[in-house]
Formats: sequence, structure tokens, C-alpha cells
Amino acid sequence: MDYVVMMPAAGSGKRMGAGYNKLFLQLDHKPIIIHTLLVFEEDPACKGVILAVKRDERNEIQSMLDQFGISKIKAIVDGGTERQFSVAACIEAHAENGIVLVHDAARPFLERSVIANLVQKATEFGAAIAAVQPKDTMKIATDGVVEKTVDRDKLWIVQTPQAFRYDVLKEASESAIREGFLGTDESMLVERLGHPVRIVESTYENVKMTTQEDLVFGEIILKRQQEDLV
Ligand code: CTP
Ligand code: MG
Repeated sequence: MDYVVMMPAAGSGKRMGAGYNKLFLQLDHKPIIIHTLLVFEEDPACKGVILAVKRDERNEIQSMLDQFGISKIKAIVDGGTERQFSVAACIEAHAENGIVLVHDAARPFLERSVIANLVQKATEFGAAIAAVQPKDTMKIATDGVVEKTVDRDKLWIVQTPQAFRYDVLKEASESAIREGFLGTDESMLVERLGHPVRIVESTYENVKMTTQEDLVFGEIILKRQQEDLV
């Protein structure tokens, strides 16, 4: 089943502390953003990518796309001051109906099978998100004192991709912006319209490159992937 990707890449990477956009950091001689784009480049079901970037990084990103032969970019739009606005700019640049995936440029290790499951569930139900269950015991605490232990089976750590029917995502994004609601993911925007969102179990490898420790983990995942290939 075909889909189009909306990829926010217009952040600053403050928590990574590199002093520049973390997506330009290299893992195994390729920038993080290129690793992420290659997953979609290699998936025949992906029909295009709409990328949101900072205006003053556009040229640098364009030359990376050329250097690594990324061919599926349909549009490059100006990102916004918040991630939600960067995704909104992608949504605005798209007009066709069908399934769209929102995926952070900072998550290079997503699995093709997870994408396929998301697209299938979003086709059937309108909205589906990738998530994993916590491995640790989870508690709620106030001022450092435990209130209770939470039923772990009901908890999900949410990732991207998040997949939607385009009309569902567009309505949710426009309504949030109209009403001044700022969410941390697109699912929140859809949830507030009362639309059910399905969970698709993802993998623990689909981490977001956020702080320095994540890069160490990233190097290990890449090494393992290469060993699996030989
Ligand atoms: N992003 C974006 N526009 C913004 C903020 C973030 O397109 N205004 C993108 C980032 O480039 C990243 C994704 O959204 O691909 C997830 O955001 P996050 O991991 O928080 O990245 P940054 O915002 O760059 O990092 P930080 O919060 O540490 O500054
Ligand atoms: Mg951020």
C-alpha cells in the first residue's frame, strides 16, 4: 500500500549539544538525516517525501540529498518554530488523498515491517502510531513520593512513524493551529478530535537520536545491521 512521508527536519538539536543541527552528525560516514531518508528511498511503497527544513540549512541539505542520491523528495518546505508547525507546513504542501506517515528525521532505525503495519492500520482505521511497551516498572510520584504503581500493560512509549489518512491529519492539524493547541506528536491532535488511534508495536531500536548516548546506541545498531548483511 502506497504512502507519502512528511519529515520534520527543522530542529536545532539543542539536547545533542553539537552546536549545529544534530541531523548533520554522521553515523558510519552518512548524516543521520540521510540514514532516515534511505529507509524510505529503499521502500517501493513510499511514493515521496516532503521535508521541512530551516531556511538557512536548505542548501546544505540539498547538497546532501544530491551526494547520496536521494530521489524521492517531492517538496522541501520551510519548517516552523515548533515541530508541530514544521509538520503543518508539510501538510499544507500536500494535496492528494491517501495515507501519509509523519516521521522524525532523527529516527534512522525504523523497520520496514513496522511501516507496512502502520500503513495497513491507518488505511483501515484512519490513524495508527508506532510504540513500544516500557521494560521497567512504572510508578506515579508527586514531590518524590510514590503514589502508585501503574499497570505496565497499559503503557506505551510512543515513537514515529505515525500514519494517518490525509484528511484526518489535515483536519487535526488545522484545528489545533486554529485553537492554539500545541501537541508533542500528531496523534495528540487527532485524539483531541475524538478520533481513535491504533497502536502498532514497533522495535526498541527505533530510538530518536536526542542526546550523545543515543549516538553510541546508533553506532552499535548500524554495526549489527552490517554484520547481518555479511
Ligand atoms: N523539528 C522540526 N521543527 C522544529 C523542531 C523540531 O522540524 N521546530 C524536527 C527535528 O529536526 C527532528 C524532529 O522534529 O527531526 C524531532 O524533534 P527533536 O528530536 O526534539 O529535535 P530537535 O528539536 O532538533 O532537538 P532539541 O529538542 O534537542 O533541540
Ligand atoms: Mg525538539
